[in-house]
Amino acid sequence: MGARPSFPIVPLPRDRTVIVTGGNTGLGYEIAKWLAMMGATVIIACRSEQRALQAIERMQEEYSLIKEKLSSTHELKTYDNLAVSQMQLDLSSFKSTLEFVEEFKKSGRNLHVLVCNAGIGMAPYEKTEDGFEKMLQVNYLSHFLIVAKLLPVMLKSGTDCRILFMSSDAHRSCSFDLDTMNYMGNASKFGRLDYYGRSKLYQIMQMYSLSRRLKDTNVSINSSHPGIVDTEIARNFQDSFFWNVLFFGGSKALGK
Ligand SMILES: NC(=O)c1ccc[n+]([C@@H]2O[C@H](COP(=O)([O-])OP(=O)(O)OC[C@H]3O[C@@H](n4cnc5c(N)ncnc54)[C@H](OP(=O)(O)O)[C@@H]3O)[C@@H](O)[C@H]2O)c1
Repeated sequence: MGARPSFPIVPLPRDRTVIVTGGNTGLGYEIAKWLAMMGATVIIACRSEQRALQAIERMQEEYSLIKEKLSSTHELKTYDNLAVSQMQLDLSSFKSTLEFVEEFKKSGRNLHVLVCNAGIGMAPYEKTEDGFEKMLQVNYLSHFLIVAKLLPVMLKSGTDCRILFMSSDAHRSCSFDLDTMNYMGNASKFGRLDYYGRSKLYQIMQMYSLSRRLKDTNVSINSSHPGIVDTEIARNFQDSFFWNVLFFGGSKALGK
């Protein structure tokens, strides 16, 4: 991951609350860190408490190294520490997802930005405890639930609230088919790119339909394809030489 952000660095008020799902590594880590560095209060929603706490520690260290520079070149207010905390969320379980929502609601906080970032890419077939194909549930269904449950909070949280879906260009390679939405076939015939793409397609469809419904409200919805970024995403298809070569030129598959 690059050290320099490719977005404007602007001061954000500390009382602006952001949730980033999967903020402990990869794209989510950088998003959470930079929003916190710009001043916002950030919650990373992660399935591993240990990985989340390690990520927060790393963010604080990175902040301490550059905060003076950030304040002189970008006129950002400096703080002793970033306002980052973590909450437990396992998107492969509706129980965990609903507990996360309830826990957040109990805090009584406003919610200004929700970054639906966590995801698994091109994973082999696996069924969740709720009976869904795993990429469908982690990437789409559980985020859908979070959005549905936290939208009422966002609608009451003041101006310029935003939801971002971390999507993928892979959505272009598939089409919508309600009958085969939840894969029921043979695990060995599972089309992992197809089902990864579908999970992202559903998010994009949700973005369009919600945008229409939320027109003229304080909440805007966007989705973004981040490009191809060398994160931990390849851990989900390390078993596939083909996808490694396509994604990373074979460097991961060959262990380089
Ligand atoms: N990297 C790319 O080139 C690329 C391209 C297009 C789209 N994207 C999308 O960008 C998003 C971020 O991916 P990334 O590249 O940053 O991948 P990454 O480095 O593998 O990070 C994925 C994040 O999702 C979390 N996650 C996975 N399963 C979860 C679950 N069941 N519950 C809660 N969190 C879970 C991971 O947590 P753990 O660390 O605990 O596993 C991790 O924090 C994904 O939605 C991905 O589809 C990435």
